[in-house]
Amino acid sequence: MKRIGMLTSGGDCQALNAAMRGVVKCLSCSGEDVEIYGFLDGYKGLIYGDFRMLTGHDFAGILTKGGTILGSSRTPFKLMREPDENGLDKVEAMKQNYYKLKLDCMVILGGNGTHKTANMLREEGLNVITLPKTIDNDLWGTDMTFGFQSAVNIATDCIDCIHTTASSHARIFIVEVMGHKVGWLTLNAGMAGGADIILIPEIPYDINKVIKAINEREARGSRFTIMAVAEGAISKEDAKLSKKEYKKKMENYPYPSVSYEIADKIRKKSGKDVRVTVPGHTQRGGSPCPYDRVFATRLGAEAGKLILKGEYGFMVGYKNREVVKVSLEEVAGKLKMVSPDATIVKEAKMVGISFGD
Ligand code: F6P
Repeated sequence: MKRIGMLTSGGDCQALNAAMRGVVKCLSCSGEDVEIYGFLDGYKGLIYGDFRMLTGHDFAGILTKGGTILGSSRTPFKLMREPDENGLDKVEAMKQNYYKLKLDCMVILGGNGTHKTANMLREEGLNVITLPKTIDNDLWGTDMTFGFQSAVNIATDCIDCIHTTASSHARIFIVEVMGHKVGWLTLNAGMAGGADIILIPEIPYDINKVIKAINEREARGSRFTIMAVAEGAISKEDAKLSKKEYKKKMENYPYPSVSYEIADKIRKKSGKDVRVTVPGHTQRGGSPCPYDRVFATRLGAEAGKLILKGEYGFMVGYKNREVVKVSLEEVAGKLKMVSPDATIVKEAKMVGISFGD
């Protein structure tokens, strides 16, 4: 008999359900007796003992379903060691709930912050297996996270739609893509959607270079320009600021997001007409794409296999086209960013995409 706890933490994404289904199906197909305890709304559920016992039925028909059947929330890692408003020691509470239910292991699905806490629980002596979810694809130790490909599809669809309207007007169109502090989503959706300019946090932009690229397109006879701008895009001047100075600047930031600042600068410097589209959380919504369904199922199955073997303390990731286990210690606290020297960036430049650098 295996008693497994499960939770999904942080921002949701597509294929969380598919991954959990993969774990449970693998365990039940092995013939092993299993009890599944689903903790609700992320680590909160584990802290406050808010759980539901789940059966095979709960995992039926969810392969294609977006969101997470367990609910999710963000419980920042930096607050985990701070008592809650009633003085409760959160880490101790999580351990007590784990021991009370006599769990063999916790299966934790999440991104960066989630992995820091998962690793802390491992250090505290709990058995933990994690699965890498996030549309940002910024998790260290895995070439791919589930949710990413589905979000690329949605952001690309958005750029495609903008393309048809852009061709009717002589305008600059900015599509702002999610991705937190990294540019994987913007880079991939931008290339897939044929964006002319791609701005990502890892390659700070110079607004004059951006305008130059727009002017060069116009000189070649193009009526419009499409820009894929990461929500974390940053100018060369801002990139030079210290953390403190940048935080101060953001306190009095007059724009809803960076794209509006960039649009304003382009308008003021060039007099051109600019429109901004922000697909926002639609990028995390809807059904997982077929790639993510297969990918999440594979990772879930491998997680199930590790549980059956009693191998804990790992994230199930993907490296060089193989599903691999990576120690949580190695994953926790590191970001996987786009290198400005990456071949994909060079290839994008080779086909004329400007990064404004
Ligand atoms: O990490 C996933 C993500 O969608 C990021 O791309 C984005 O910056 C953030 O979450 C948005 O967070 P929230 O859903 O809390 O607004």
